[in-house]
Amino acid sequence: MSRPVITIADLAENVDQNVTLRGWVYNWRKKGKLRFIILRDGFGYLQCIVFRPEVDEEVWEKAVELTQETSLEISGKLVADERAPGGYELKVDGLKILQISPEFPIGKKDHGVDFLLNHRHLWLRSKRQHAIMRVRSEAQFAIRDFFQKRAYTLIDSPILTPAACEGTSTLFETDYFGEPAYLSQSGQLYLEPAVAALGKVYCFGPTFRAEKSKTRRHLTEFWMVEPEVAWMQFDGLLNLCEDFLSSVISRILEECAVDLERLERDISKLEPATKGSFPRIDYGDAVKTLQSLGQEIEFGEDFGAEQETILAGLHDRPVLVTRYPAAIKAFYMQPDPTDPTRALAVDVLAPEGYGEIIGGSERSASLEHLENQIKIHGLPRDAFKWYLDVRTYGSFPHAGFGMGLERFVSWMCGIPHLREAIPYPRMINRLYP
Ligand code: 4AD
Ligand code: MG
Repeated sequence: MSRPVITIADLAENVDQNVTLRGWVYNWRKKGKLRFIILRDGFGYLQCIVFRPEVDEEVWEKAVELTQETSLEISGKLVADERAPGGYELKVDGLKILQISPEFPIGKKDHGVDFLLNHRHLWLRSKRQHAIMRVRSEAQFAIRDFFQKRAYTLIDSPILTPAACEGTSTLFETDYFGEPAYLSQSGQLYLEPAVAALGKVYCFGPTFRAEKSKTRRHLTEFWMVEPEVAWMQFDGLLNLCEDFLSSVISRILEECAVDLERLERDISKLEPATKGSFPRIDYGDAVKTLQSLGQEIEFGEDFGAEQETILAGLHDRPVLVTRYPAAIKAFYMQPDPTDPTRALAVDVLAPEGYGEIIGGSERSASLEHLENQIKIHGLPRDAFKWYLDVRTYGSFPHAGFGMGLERFVSWMCGIPHLREAIPYPRMINRLYP
């Protein structure tokens, strides 16, 4: 008897049909002459019922043998049933086992996070990780779509680079045929020449930081999306941050409703961020606010994680903190024309303790200023010669930002630590699996 093979994504179109599905046993339980099998196939979960009086003895014997994560083909009549989880149920009449799984390492009991991370390749099969990976995938798609629809050109920046972009303290060095090379910290420096060729560009790829601290907000390998726009100045950049986040978050709320529900995400906390009107706060005012709330911070210092949480916690949507002291920001930023000790820099802080998700700036258009900055930051001029050419051959104002995908996904999913927001996390003590 040949039957159509369907997936759990196609249940609605197959009600009252005899069908076959392929997948793994997510869970099972017995009740007298009944076996309830929860099948997962990567697209969802389906309750399958084996009722002993109605199946061949051979099918019953197989049903009794099943273990968690056994791979199988399962056939029967698909029915709609409001009482069943998800609203559908399979009345099983055929079972083909591909492999009985030995005891699966990740079971019902609570496991420590180290255990789970050592079994990351298996942990991905769990409901929660499935939902997070779906949100991550949709976020990447929504981000690319946002830029593609607005006439940005994708420019893939290199991973192996001769120089630092974001300071020398977090560089991963590798041997490049006898010369030192560094894993890219950001694609930005490569976007700036490209934006003179293409007007609006973005890159979206893995970036690396040898972060020696263990925090819930840092990975050593993470994905960053970076737009760069010719002729854009600081105000335009702030508007871009706001439009970008509002638009991508709206799309995630629409497309990932099922996943966010599975994660028990309180989406009322995300909805304000779809409406724009993000508060814009000058760095100096942010420092005063923190001081008035009893925080020990002086003008000129960078915010700590707790301070970012406090600042962002005063609002229901992301906050744009602007015009940081130039001394605590990267070498390439444009000084504020009204006060050159400040940089035209923005950090976007997400609510609910997620902290900085975006860092951006207007870029310095002056060759002289940049040459000076390279000296002050102790960077090797030769390695930046090509970058300085952008300021030699027709310099122009431009601006851009970078958003870490895992920080964004963690916030969307409401998960406390970045390690669950990437399929295979890399951290100071983790390179396996
Ligand atoms: O603020 P950052 O260092 O900015 C840049 O790299 C700029 N060159 C970007 C640009 O203007 N094109 O990093 C940007 C974002 C941060 O706001 C954060 O979301 C993320 O990248 N990020 C990290 N995410 C995970 N782990 C880390 N170690 C991260 N470091 C930065
Ligand atoms: Mg930053």
